[in-house]
Amino acid sequence: MSMSRSKLRRAFSRLWLLAPVTTLGVGCSSTWGCDSDSRQETFRVATIELTDGGVATAQTPCSEVCAQLGAHAPCSFTRSSQELAEPDEVSCQVGTLCEGRRPEGLCSDGSVEGRVPALGVLFAKMAHLEAASVPAFERLADELAAHGAPERLVRAARRSAKEEVRHAHAMASLAVRHGATMPEVNVAPFGARSLEALAIENAVEGCVRETFGALLAGWQARCSEDVSVRETLSAIAPDELRHSELSWDIDAWALARLSEDARARVEAARREAWSALERDAADSLLPEDVARQSGLPSPEMARRLVRELARTCSPATTALA
Ligand SMILES: [Fe+2]
Ligand SMILES: [Fe+2]
Repeated sequence: MSMSRSKLRRAFSRLWLLAPVTTLGVGCSSTWGCDSDSRQETFRVATIELTDGGVATAQTPCSEVCAQLGAHAPCSFTRSSQELAEPDEVSCQVGTLCEGRRPEGLCSDGSVEGRVPALGVLFAKMAHLEAASVPAFERLADELAAHGAPERLVRAARRSAKEEVRHAHAMASLAVRHGATMPEVNVAPFGARSLEALAIENAVEGCVRETFGALLAGWQARCSEDVSVRETLSAIAPDELRHSELSWDIDAWALARLSEDARARVEAARREAWSALERDAADSLLPEDVARQSGLPSPEMARRLVRELARTCSPATTALA
């Protein structure tokens, strides 16, 4: 039995109750960025602003760099070219986690150039992910049609692509307000693929990542200290909940057409995606002020949300529903 819509909505309502709403004066603590594939990120040292208003140098202690970037020690300073006498780059393990549907072949990571405040960097990454999900849904709609899926699923995927365009614009304007520009989105050209490959991508990117992204959008809409962030995410959250439901509808349709072996491979990929997301959540970290303004949950809370969502969505639980 597939994940029912009402069950997903009930789980979301229950988990959102855990969010410390800003009107109570309790800020959400630390966490998060984007792009789970590259946990190691390199920053230009001269672009890292310190709390005293200056910028970092190769002599800045690792702990200060980490505090500004939301990174985990140890940082390693490197030179970007042989000619330089001093290190000018620092590579850090950053607490990043992605909460949306990424297309296969995504080559860009949403990073921004220049001296940009950390909140701008975060919103630019979120905008990049929203923009990247536009081609993801367009491809999905084409593929669903090619595999003979019901028209309602094809139409819903096309509608979702249009909604992601709106989300990308909304997040880009938050990024711009906080000093960043909209990063470029680069996606390698798509080729034809099997229903099983489609189902695996949908399970990982839709049923897991976009479902968690939908939960987070609602969380941020409740937690952020910044009214414009709350308003933007409040407008995005209901769309994301529908995208998540669409993922589960596509999942049910595709699984019914696959062999037992192929279904087992889809479930294995989904389980692995939940585990990877839980690890990313536990490792996530953001500077305190960025966490409060973005409304993202603490690493402990993010991990709990992933676990509870995974449990709600697991086949054993849905079979009992
Ligand atoms: Fe979106
Ligand atoms: Fe979405």
